[in-house]
Amino acid sequence: MTFQNELINWYLINKRDLPWRHTNDAYTIWLSEVILQQTRVEQGLPYFNRFLENFPTVADFASATEAKVLKLWQGLGYYSRGRNMHATAQIVVKDYDGIFPNLHDELIKLKGIGEYTAAAISSFSSGEARAVVDGNVFRVLSRFYGLATPINSPAGKKEFYALANDLLYKEDPALYNQAIMEFGAMQCKPKSPNCGICPVNQSCYAFNHGQVNVLPVKIRK
Ligand code: ADE
Repeated sequence: MTFQNELINWYLINKRDLPWRHTNDAYTIWLSEVILQQTRVEQGLPYFNRFLENFPTVADFASATEAKVLKLWQGLGYYSRGRNMHATAQIVVKDYDGIFPNLHDELIKLKGIGEYTAAAISSFSSGEARAVVDGNVFRVLSRFYGLATPINSPAGKKEFYALANDLLYKEDPALYNQAIMEFGAMQCKPKSPNCGICPVNQSCYAFNHGQVNVLPVKIRK
């Protein structure tokens, strides 16, 4: 079986039931992805629910006061994320008729949406073929393929993005993207992963060369 199919099969059996995986609404997915930037799922989940309750639509978000947005954000840190979200909600109402964009090239223009977030929202909401590359994906690819180029170097970014896009499962980019991120978060964990039960350990470079604790490589800046 291919690497992609192994990950998808693993995902279908082991995935967590998370609310943003039951929708293809770009606004809802945007909320979840921005909240989850630099925030763990367990911590972000109640915030996601509160934001959606208070602001069921992007128009509700846009018309809120900044004080209310920042109050709801309290405890998540990086307040610029909350401010950027507010600005983006207002631009979506003004320039996009309140319809949250679901294509990469529109999303990337919005404040607070970088490569990762544009790929996540576009693949999950419209099925666009864009590979997500977050910390989980860097780790899985680095270990499985034995890539030691530092993930935070320009050369590393180029190499990992190219590989991630080659590997993207074109039949269902959203499913594959969720699968590789979840696999990184739950199975191919940063510390002490249980490689004995990993479905792809036989072909994993790091497992076969005793490098699970060495890969991925990060340079100090
Ligand atoms: N972290 C960022 N995006 C995520 C997602 N879609 N599912 C789980 N964890 C995530």
